[in-house]
Amino acid sequence: MIRYVVLPVFAIAALAPGRGDAAEGAASVGRQIFFDTRLSEPEGQSCASCHDPRHGFADPRPVSPGAVVGREGTRNAPSLMYASLIPAMVLEEFYDEDGVQSMVHEGGLFLDGRAHDQFQQVQQPFFDPREMNLPDAGELAARLREAEYAGALQELVGDGSWGRDSAVNFHAYRALVEFLKDPLFRPFDARIDAFWAGDESALTAAERRGLEVFKVEGNCVKCHLVGTLTWPEPLLSDYGYDNVGAPSRGERDPGLGGHTGDPEELGQFKAPTLRNIALTAPYMHNGSIATLKEVMEFYNKRDLEPHRWGETDYPDTVNREDMGDLGLTDQQVEDLTALMDAFTDRSLLEMEPGDRLPRARPGTPSTEARKNYFPDWSHRLDPEFRSP
Ligand code: HEC
Ligand code: HEC
Repeated sequence: MIRYVVLPVFAIAALAPGRGDAAEGAASVGRQIFFDTRLSEPEGQSCASCHDPRHGFADPRPVSPGAVVGREGTRNAPSLMYASLIPAMVLEEFYDEDGVQSMVHEGGLFLDGRAHDQFQQVQQPFFDPREMNLPDAGELAARLREAEYAGALQELVGDGSWGRDSAVNFHAYRALVEFLKDPLFRPFDARIDAFWAGDESALTAAERRGLEVFKVEGNCVKCHLVGTLTWPEPLLSDYGYDNVGAPSRGERDPGLGGHTGDPEELGQFKAPTLRNIALTAPYMHNGSIATLKEVMEFYNKRDLEPHRWGETDYPDTVNREDMGDLGLTDQQVEDLTALMDAFTDRSLLEMEPGDRLPRARPGTPSTEARKNYFPDWSHRLDPEFRSP
């Protein structure tokens, strides 16, 4: 409900030499962990099982089955493109048009923001009984020590700590975080980027009209920002929380309010980036809307056709100011839908059949070159990557 809050860019203290190399080694280990199907119980599921590179690292199924047959989650696995750029959770002061002050949550990982940052987030899938279902940290460490990439991981951990489960797991989590920062997850090579760089012809006429609706009549930019705050390029999100009134799919999902305890935050979910949105159907936190055309119709007429969309989990907290009765024409809805294609990274479209991962656009700045922009947790960690 709250927009245009300036988030702090986390200043990272000067880092010791050698960090670049250590980070690269970690990213490479992280890539192998990402695809390792031995880290689930029973074996067979990896991060990539639900975050499919061919779908922008999202899951094309509304909810994902777990490693244990018959178990499944309640949320739609989101894209991991640009996920490492999501700021850590903050409680921010916000002033509305009348100067009234309130406190709002912004940033954080998972759709309800229950992980403060990426480092906390990557730990949870391993032990979630509806996901990879490992019994405990000892089991994770034991399997990591047996992995094909154990030698490279041991180099990160150091021989002296290799016997300690907490040290082994700590470096595995760090490795995943470094991998998610890799340029391949942040190429900024969609047609909209070429357009913003000055190439008018990068968008079709319908997409250019759609962009006007996105900025003006639809006011989508209130939450899906086209300006920049924390990163040099636009992320198409402010990572604030809202209840857009998504159709219910079974048990009520309390979202942000489920862990903050604030009743006004019940049913609120994090506004996602719209980058690569055309590849990540179905939509909303619960995968309740199948196509982008329907998402646009939902925003436009949600409150005029309640029977079409059915119940929502928390009607009292639904945002009725910014959406639900936008008054857009059919043509504007078409144009807005067309625009979504302009947000797709070319590197994802150009994946070859044999590729496991997309290739970063040549010239994408390295993690080292962008280090001051990442919402990193380095301020509480040792730059030499020693274990806590
Ligand atoms: C069984 C399917 C499944 C597996 C396996 C899985 N995830 Fe996820 N992932 C999800 C779902 C579903 C969500 C959203 C959950 C929520 O918000 O509560 C999610 C959320 C995330 C997010 C948060 C993105 C955001 O926008 O906040 C990241 C990052 C992520 N997963 C990375 C990983 C990594 C790394 C692994 C492997 C260690 C992994 N996931 C394994 C299904 C899965
Ligand atoms: C007040 C803030 C706000 C505004 C304004 C807004 N959105 Fe959203 N948008 C959100 C939030 C929050 C979600 C996630 C809702 C959920 O998962 O339940 C979302 C989800 C979406 C999704 C689905 C994303 C996914 O990965 O499933 C699309 C597409 C989208 N918005 C497009 C738009 C368009 C187009 C407009 C303008 C017509 C718009 N939004 C206006 C906050 C907003």
